[in-house]
Amino acid sequence: MMKTILITGGAGFIGSHVVRLYVNKYPDYKIVNLDKLTYAGNLENLKDIDKKPNYEFIKADICDTETIFALFQKYLFDGVIHLAAESHVDRSITDPMAFVKTNVIGTCNLLNAAKAIWKDQHDEKLFYHVSTDEVYGSLEHEGFFYETTAYDPQSPYSASKASSDHFVRAYHNTYKLPIVISNCSNNYGANQFPEKLIPLSINNIKNNKPIPVYGKGENIRDWLYVEDHAAAIDVIFHKGKTGETYNIGGNNEWKNIDLIYKLCDVMDKKLNRPAGTSARLITFVKDRAGHDLRYAIDSSKLQKELGWSPSLQFEEGIEKTVDWYLANEQWLMNVVSGEYSKYYDNQYLHR
Ligand code: NAD
Ligand code: DAU
Repeated sequence: MMKTILITGGAGFIGSHVVRLYVNKYPDYKIVNLDKLTYAGNLENLKDIDKKPNYEFIKADICDTETIFALFQKYLFDGVIHLAAESHVDRSITDPMAFVKTNVIGTCNLLNAAKAIWKDQHDEKLFYHVSTDEVYGSLEHEGFFYETTAYDPQSPYSASKASSDHFVRAYHNTYKLPIVISNCSNNYGANQFPEKLIPLSINNIKNNKPIPVYGKGENIRDWLYVEDHAAAIDVIFHKGKTGETYNIGGNNEWKNIDLIYKLCDVMDKKLNRPAGTSARLITFVKDRAGHDLRYAIDSSKLQKELGWSPSLQFEEGIEKTVDWYLANEQWLMNVVSGEYSKYYDNQYLHR
């Protein structure tokens, strides 16, 4: 069936994998990628598909009410997959208002446009909001986040995402806007901006620079390969029940320090360095303020009801990720030049 789908944030890390999947898998859909191209947005991520006839890119800000309404009016989108966001916890600690603006106000702006233009065509439309497991707060060493876990966000980033989730649900309850939400654990894979732990560490190891580990490296994250997240989004978009929430996770918990040792081993092998060389770069630095101890997702609802499960083992996923960064030196060089070096110095030089 012919559909026009708006994907926001499609030039970013996860968004670019979702755009690629949709453009290739659904030649009958028109995929409109709307992205402001902040420091995290990069059209290089999509150069393999950007000439396809069912793809269009629009540079715009989700906070720009006039433009967003005009686009909804022009394209009469059948569905929205909303990924555009400020996504980095450390940046939210230094500049929370940027997160309020894009994540809260930008999301409400999209909801208002969908509500106004879709009116009561609720059976044919869907607003899919992509969110994070961080809205549930922080776990101790036992237990999991379920769809029913009470929200308890701890950072400005997770508070802004929690707020946007609440608005999305409020538009469903109040105006019957057809929505679905997913909350996913930490992603890794190709095209991730090197401010996040895994690509930052790969880049530093490659350049023999210190690997900054916050605190004692005891914090735990549940890692999912980005293409598995994109596949989950596809399943939820097409088969998910309107109004529902689905948790997505890798069932793959790693203590940060163990993950870094694993990455060091892989890098030593790939770079033909003697075993133990990269691990000597590990440097413990001042902890992140309000650092959540542990995230762990229970994704059994998604697995049982919609039949999704992660396809890759972490060992395979991390090798593929390292291979991608080593093969795409120019991509990495382009993103770490300019603004990145300023950010890096502010974040790490005097830590
Ligand atoms: P990212 O930072 O790599 O990409 C975000 C994209 O949004 C960029 O292309 C950026 O240019 C765009 N953007 C930012 N502000 C915008 C605005 N005002 N208007 C239009 N576009 C704007 O983020 P990501 O890691 O790909 O995350 C995508 C989504 O998935 C986010 O909503 C995030 O909260 C969620 N999420 C991420 C993870 C993860 O591990 N990275 C896990 C779970 C959920
Ligand atoms: O859980 C999902 C979330 O995962 C997403 O919603 C966010 O968008 C995404 O950025 C990610 O958040 P984290 O804060 O968990 O990711 P980050 O890669 O920044 O950090 C992972 C862990 O590594 C965390 O415990 C902090 C630590 N860390 C991070 C950096 C950048 C370090 O020890 N050193 C570092 O230099």
